[in-house]
Amino acid sequence: MMNDEIRVAPSVLSADFRRLADELADVSSADLLHYDVMDGHFVPNLSFGIDLLRTVKSATELPVDVHLMISNPDEMVERYLDAGADVVSFHYEATSHAHRLVSLIKDRGAKASIAINPATPVCLLEPILCELDMVLVMTVNPGFGGQRFIESSLRKLRRLRRMCDEQGVSPAIEVDGGITARNAAEVAAAGASVLVAGSSVFGTADRSAAIAAIRASGTSGTSRRA
Ligand code: DX5
Ligand code: ZN
Repeated sequence: MMNDEIRVAPSVLSADFRRLADELADVSSADLLHYDVMDGHFVPNLSFGIDLLRTVKSATELPVDVHLMISNPDEMVERYLDAGADVVSFHYEATSHAHRLVSLIKDRGAKASIAINPATPVCLLEPILCELDMVLVMTVNPGFGGQRFIESSLRKLRRLRRMCDEQGVSPAIEVDGGITARNAAEVAAAGASVLVAGSSVFGTADRSAAIAAIRASGTSGTSRRA
């Protein structure tokens, strides 16, 4: 899935669920749809699960990027694949069997991604980086939309980018949490190419304009990459 083209992934978590179909139609100019699964255990919040993923899949043509913020993803991942997940990110902190899980996701024809929390160093991914389609760098502590971007994430992104260059691999790098048109250029300059945006898209009246602004800002940042 790699490349440097900037892609914007609105996060369904911030949508108005009273009118979900309209909300999804409103973000059809995006590149991916980000779907946050929270289990009230790995993170201190509950969101939605497999049944709603099926509904979302039937209401959008965008590929769906499923972010599993759950303990023991090994036990649940196949059900999300069955429900149509196009990309699956599970948390490094939540399983002892990252390699097995990545293989399973890829064998099922989906893109495999590992997510890391703000306090998890990128060097832990070194042995498995060459297997990944994407790395999700959390830029807030997972669990809630609308939080403030953690600035030290920029250093992590640069380090991850360097690690990829050293290994000659090029997984997509996704950032999630507090991304806006204001900081999109900076995260893209540091190496990110998939930009999750919840409140900065669904919190505005003109979603297409918000998506375009984030994409344009991100694209301007890619020319500043070292
Ligand atoms: C946070 C979720 C995010 C969230 C992002 O735990 O993983 O995907 O929806 O929301 P914003 O963009 O509002 O920070
Ligand atoms: Zn997310």
